Amino acid sequence: MSATISEYPSPSNNARVYVVEDDPHVRTLLANILLHNGNEVIPFSNGAEALDAVMHYPPDLLLLDVTMPEMSGFKVCERLKKNPMLKDIPVIFLSGMGATEDKMRGFQAGGVDYITKPFHSEEVRARVNTHLSLSTLRTKLAYQKLLEREMRELSEAQQATIFALAKLAEHRDDDTGAHLERVSEYCRLLTEQLGEQSRYADQISADFVACIQHASALHDIGKVAIPDSILKKPGALTTEEFSIMKTHTVIGAENLQTIFNRYNDNPFIGMGVEIALYHHERWDGKGYPDGLMGKNIPLSARIMAVADVYDALRSDRCYRKGFDHETVTSMLLKESGTHFDPEVIKAFLSLEEQFSVIMP
Ligand SMILES: [Fe+2]
Repeated sequence: MSATISEYPSPSNNARVYVVEDDPHVRTLLANILLHNGNEVIPFSNGAEALDAVMHYPPDLLLLDVTMPEMSGFKVCERLKKNPMLKDIPVIFLSGMGATEDKMRGFQAGGVDYITKPFHSEEVRARVNTHLSLSTLRTKLAYQKLLEREMRELSEAQQATIFALAKLAEHRDDDTGAHLERVSEYCRLLTEQLGEQSRYADQISADFVACIQHASALHDIGKVAIPDSILKKPGALTTEEFSIMKTHTVIGAENLQTIFNRYNDNPFIGMGVEIALYHHERWDGKGYPDGLMGKNIPLSARIMAVADVYDALRSDRCYRKGFDHETVTSMLLKESGTHFDPEVIKAFLSLEEQFSVIMP
């Protein structure tokens, strides 16, 4: 099971240091140095007692004498490092043995530093403070990574839930099949292309691409409110039926807006509102619901319009077969500058092959 945020201690200013040293004179000297350094000091005369205390009252750092009766400092350190909950506590060894092989043995046991006796109080303070700072930074970094991961998981769970709801709404219209998955992919491709090479490149970030990829699923969510007699009508709609059908844009957007009012720092829902409301607007101003024209239509909705119409024309309907890719491409091209934003159609043309592969 993964760790939770509460398992990560917050970095402490008044760090707790264990001094494990069998010589009472050296132990008192070290304790005084660290008390003057502002630390909480807990002294131990042997490793076994220190190990027992570590389990219940973990320190931020251990100063560990190497040569002690019964259990050496190296042994104490090795045992500490075997415990996953305690292994990150930094250990600094103290020893009269200053040979390189002794120091190497200390690092192999898991120590982070080595102080040779006799020592200067300044050196002890400097080394302790350095490793406390490093340890605090490591803890902060681990906490930040955990927080980022949990935020990402939460965001993915929210998006999956909303996609599932959009999918439920889509199932009322049997003709569409995997329409939501395909338009999501079309939107991603178009937006990435526009971000790389178009007049809109400066408006498109990686977040914008991720947003439209997920928010596109919400475009027809308002269709849940359209009666079956209209939504599933096999033939052409009457004027009155069409005016009811057109309300799916406003109904979808109003419902998403109530969610956005509560979570207004969520760009995914914000873009969902734009897309639901404006995906049937036209570049020439003859679309609905508001008859917006040109760049007054949000970019996300202008991209969505191309993705949505391409997929609708390629799909089979109960009253007609889906058109082939070449036919749909020429239909879209003909509508560039009237129905569709010419810049988005330009991006579509450079991605043609990828579009044709997505639609089986
Ligand atoms: Fe629609």
